Amino acid sequence: MRVPLIAGNWKMNTTVTDAVNLVKEMRDDLEKIPDVDKVICPPFVSLAPLKELVAGSTIKLGAQNLYFAEKGAYTGEISPLMLADLCEYVIIGHSERRQYFGESGDIVNKKVVSALKAGLIPILCIGEKLAENEAGKTEEVVTRQLNAALENIDDSDGLILAYEPVWAIGTGRAATGKQANETIAIIRNCISRIYDRRVSREIRILYGGSVTAANTAEFMNQPDIDGALVGGASLKAAEFISIVAQASTTK
Ligand code: 13P
Repeated sequence: MRVPLIAGNWKMNTTVTDAVNLVKEMRDDLEKIPDVDKVICPPFVSLAPLKELVAGSTIKLGAQNLYFAEKGAYTGEISPLMLADLCEYVIIGHSERRQYFGESGDIVNKKVVSALKAGLIPILCIGEKLAENEAGKTEEVVTRQLNAALENIDDSDGLILAYEPVWAIGTGRAATGKQANETIAIIRNCISRIYDRRVSREIRILYGGSVTAANTAEFMNQPDIDGALVGGASLKAAEFISIVAQASTTK
């Protein structure tokens, strides 16, 4: 049985004060919801204050990115060792990083390797752009992204995947549950080829892209979808609580 997981990707939103207030607003309600893993991924600067706020609770923290070196002269970067002190998860290869910051498959691979080495759980994002989707290239794109990201990684234990079609991110145009499940089943097959059937059965794969309280159940009811990576809706306390609650009851 794969435990469902809901992760909120706050992206570049919230000051530290906003972040603290938002977690205070959600913490007690989230804490009451059983049988679902809850992860909040705030901006780097809020990780330390939020760590204190969620200490001893079932709410876990994640970062939105990392640099792959452990330390050194990389002005402005944050290393896996720094994060391992503050949080358990880290989003890697988000399409916004690939698009705006030129992250190639090779860089994503280095980041996954370094995160695993530091004991962080990577939430590895993959997904096709609109033109690729329309050209029928979804399978080709996600396969290529997975092969690149997981090259020479023999031990994938704990790794989490997120299928985020780029055309569905922040557009209000989510994939349908059926569409998302179809691609996630393809991703599972691909994992079976890279690793084996056990890994493909056990690995958790999330859907991301315009997830709201209104469409969560549609995704959670799909056999291959284990949860969601939520952007905009994770910044609204009541909506995020509802998404987590639905993930708890539909799986
Ligand atoms: P939205 O939920 O705002 O579409 O963002 C999805 C996303 O990119 C999560 O990582």
